[in-house]
Amino acid sequence: MSDLDLDTTARTILTENDQGGYTIPTKGLYPYQWNWDSVFVALGFATFDPDRAWREIEMLFEGQWRDGMVPHILFRKDDPSYFPGPSVWGTDGGPIPSSGHSQPPVAASVVRDLVEADPSKTTLQRAAALLPKLMAWHRWYLAYRDPDNLGVLAVIHPWESGRDNLPDWDAALAAVDVKDIGPYERKDTSHVDPSMRPHKEDYDRYLSIVAACRKVGWDPAEVARSCPFFVADPGVTFIFLKANRDLLNLAERLGQESEAAEIRGWIARMEEGAKRLWNEDLKAHVALDLRTGKQTNGISSASFLASYAGLTDDLTLSALQAHFDRIAAKVRYMTPSYDPDHACYEPLRYWRGPVWAMINYMIARGFAEAGDFARSERVRRDTAALIETGGFAEYFSPVDGTGAGGGSFSWTAAIWLAWASPSRANKAA
Ligand code: DGY
Repeated sequence: MSDLDLDTTARTILTENDQGGYTIPTKGLYPYQWNWDSVFVALGFATFDPDRAWREIEMLFEGQWRDGMVPHILFRKDDPSYFPGPSVWGTDGGPIPSSGHSQPPVAASVVRDLVEADPSKTTLQRAAALLPKLMAWHRWYLAYRDPDNLGVLAVIHPWESGRDNLPDWDAALAAVDVKDIGPYERKDTSHVDPSMRPHKEDYDRYLSIVAACRKVGWDPAEVARSCPFFVADPGVTFIFLKANRDLLNLAERLGQESEAAEIRGWIARMEEGAKRLWNEDLKAHVALDLRTGKQTNGISSASFLASYAGLTDDLTLSALQAHFDRIAAKVRYMTPSYDPDHACYEPLRYWRGPVWAMINYMIARGFAEAGDFARSERVRRDTAALIETGGFAEYFSPVDGTGAGGGSFSWTAAIWLAWASPSRANKAA
């Protein structure tokens, strides 16, 4: 298929996954509105229907909880093809049935991109309407995912990281007692090859964490205190730090000085806190189990988001560049979700090795921001080649580009349109 045909296919995927203002990630496997999927999808819509791009984000915030949290899944209608559905989560925090935790907060960054693409009065008004909601969400993150003011954000469930099956969660998950879950039937393995999905032991623990949080009524302070899983994640932390920089830009643009001052404090706190995730032996940022104080020992694709977060000092950047080159010598396509030199690396199992297009997009932006245009462009070209080889898959083998997981995947289509497609790159050049 030519790149222009791929542009057309990508637009068709977004249109066909559109449920009337919000977009599902893919039919069957993920039939609801997912938080960060939707936000990346907005970038794709912005290339041909900017109004629809705003609508995607506005509809996500319709599900915001009273305490400020924006859930990872909004169950707008029942769909038996997905498990665990609303009855398993048992939440009551917002106006739309939802899961009980959040997902990486990319929204402020994409809202800024939408404003920069069209700084007209109308879009500024839409950004102004979202600003208090974004502020409330970011305050929620600081209060309940960094309750001890460490400057790093924890996730209370692997799914809150958006990088569900990462080896970084293995040790913390192993410590989760399996209880209160009863018999259950997974649906994910009926949609995709089970060898690419998490194991049953992982699912038992995912559901045990949900049961523990349901037991405390999803009270966010109690969840932060007692959840059996509480791990500081470099992915969420870096995405949040970048999102705060973009939120600051929006607040300043909109003349919201007291919000701007508040956000500046958040940025200082996170810049300082990120040092806790630095693993001196590995020379990279890693996850940190806040229950045990132990750091993990592997480099994930989120380690490469340090530059995206604005941590572009020489030490961090040169360490990332060295890791990038080492890994690039091992695989055909950058950037594997886990280090190919690590014992847990599996090139086709969910988040244990495969490449995700939207992570590559953020990594490439980070390299570009740090002035490393060669590695940034390498990541873009690899992403384009992956989609040309494997189609609009959920994720890809870094070894041979095989597409895996769900097909006709919305965020892959969106990232193609917004960044990876040669027609887009030529326009930007
Ligand atoms: C799933 O069901 O696997 C999802 O990734 C949870 O977000």
